[in-house]
Amino acid sequence: MLIAATSALGAVGVGFTAVPFIASMNPSAKARAAGAPVQADLSKLEPGALLRVKYRGQPIWVVYRTDEMLAALPTIDPELVDPDSTMPQQPEYCTNPTRSITPKYFVATGICTHLGCSPTYRPEFAPDDLGRNWKGGWFCPCHGSKFDLAGRVFKGVPAPTNLVIPKHTYINDTTVLIGEDKGAA
Ligand code: FES
Repeated sequence: MLIAATSALGAVGVGFTAVPFIASMNPSAKARAAGAPVQADLSKLEPGALLRVKYRGQPIWVVYRTDEMLAALPTIDPELVDPDSTMPQQPEYCTNPTRSITPKYFVATGICTHLGCSPTYRPEFAPDDLGRNWKGGWFCPCHGSKFDLAGRVFKGVPAPTNLVIPKHTYINDTTVLIGEDKGAA
């Protein structure tokens, strides 16, 4: 009986120690830690909605911009610091009026360019607290910086530059690969 009990305890011990070992050998966990690209499935993303994914420990946003949202972008230009994205806050293929590969989807790193807070998604038009000229974007609760739906920073706020856009590319119409841009159009 003593031998049987010892064997059982031994087996339990192996079971407990084996879990962290297997976890540390998990290739996807290791790859993620090393900064491997991350795929995001956009097939269930509703118009106007925002999807959050994590890449290299940072929040990455993907927004499905509606036609109304896209139409509003050029009307905001006079209120912005860098409406034409002349600063190197995005890959070359996103240096365009919508700061994106495809206008519908906007991909950005969800970190305020002032002191690194994560801004709040405010997609609604003309909410009471942001004023009747607000046409959707992000509001940073830390010190009040504002960004439009292309991640472009407004004048008169502490953040100096537009939001950063990470390297990305599309594997198909509804799958984006964050952190990789080989073959990006
Ligand atoms: S960290 Fe966003 S406004 Fe200061």
